[in-house]
Amino acid sequence: MAVPQVRLHPDGPSVSQLVFGTWRLANSNGWEADPALATPESVLERIEACLKLGITTFDLADIYGGYTYEELFGKGLALKPELREKMQIITKTGIKIPNDMWSEKVYVNHYDTSYEYIKSQVERSLRLLGTTYLDVVLIHRLDYLLDADEVAKVMKELRQEGKVKYWGVSNHTYSQVELLQSRLDFPLVTNQIEFSPAHLEGMDDGTLDQCQRLRMKPMCWSPLGGGAIFKKDVSEDPKTERLQKALKTVAEQFGPDVTLDQVAYAFLLRHPTKPLIVLGTNKLDRLEGAAAIFEKNIQLDRQQFYLIWEASKGNSVP
Ligand SMILES: NC(=O)c1ccc[n+]([C@@H]2O[C@H](COP(=O)([O-])OP(=O)(O)OC[C@H]3O[C@@H](n4cnc5c(N)ncnc54)[C@H](OP(=O)(O)O)[C@@H]3O)[C@@H](O)[C@H]2O)c1
Repeated sequence: MAVPQVRLHPDGPSVSQLVFGTWRLANSNGWEADPALATPESVLERIEACLKLGITTFDLADIYGGYTYEELFGKGLALKPELREKMQIITKTGIKIPNDMWSEKVYVNHYDTSYEYIKSQVERSLRLLGTTYLDVVLIHRLDYLLDADEVAKVMKELRQEGKVKYWGVSNHTYSQVELLQSRLDFPLVTNQIEFSPAHLEGMDDGTLDQCQRLRMKPMCWSPLGGGAIFKKDVSEDPKTERLQKALKTVAEQFGPDVTLDQVAYAFLLRHPTKPLIVLGTNKLDRLEGAAAIFEKNIQLDRQQFYLIWEASKGNSVP
């Protein structure tokens, strides 16, 4: 069974429940470049492997790879441009950090959600990705200087021009979503947040309740805690030790070939918002393993969900 297609929002795009993340497009450990991953051919190989599994949605950001990965992804796609119509491209903008590419002096990491910045970065993403439209663009982080009227203006313009089909946010609080949505006559289609067995804040701070209320599916980034849940030496990390034990217990309940990452993804999918999971692996066998949770029908019951919740929190429910 292929990875299911779902609606990101009732008035939003059709996307795949699993998404290929590109933060590590040319560096599996997040920081050091891996030349084997940095070629257009290698990118195309991963794009084609994803599409074969039914992973049709790709998560990018202007800033990934020090503002270089959109171009790398675009070069991979350019080898088979006909694939563009078979996929959904989600990208993000709003983070500005020092880099040689700026025409002016940028000397401090900051957020920029000004009309001019969003517009020019979206134009840049279109150019580098070799596409005439972006399926979804997210405001990457919560800009403390966000002017909702100004952001709404550029969102509306780019939508009318057909350059951005849908808009969403990432790492936004409940109140910032409310504020921005109040200025728009179309829905924000997602809030991409950190959500994993190791990071449950979205369930406590109202973010996921809001997604459910607005019927927007959240997107979970770092669903495996950035790989931290596989840490080898947990002697001084009781939380990870507890999590590994709970994930293993649940995996064994499902059968001998169910893996910890599959249980971690199934834990997230158990949430009633039915989040999209943004995968971070570059390994084809791990992508296949993730897709297999649908074929194997790995669905957690309440007790399995709460066993992992308890391990993460370090206490039982009150
Ligand atoms: N909106 C935001 O602010 C934001 C922030 C961060 C990330 N993101 C998005 O979320 C995506 C996923 O984040 P992430 O990369 O941190 O995801 P993740 O899945 O939590 O972590 C991926 C890391 O875990 C490793 N890994 C995966 N399966 C493993 C296994 N079975 N055993 C050992 N290691 C394993 C991967 O290495 P291998 O490649 O070797 O498998 C990779 O280094 C990003 O690509 C990006 O698109 C968004």
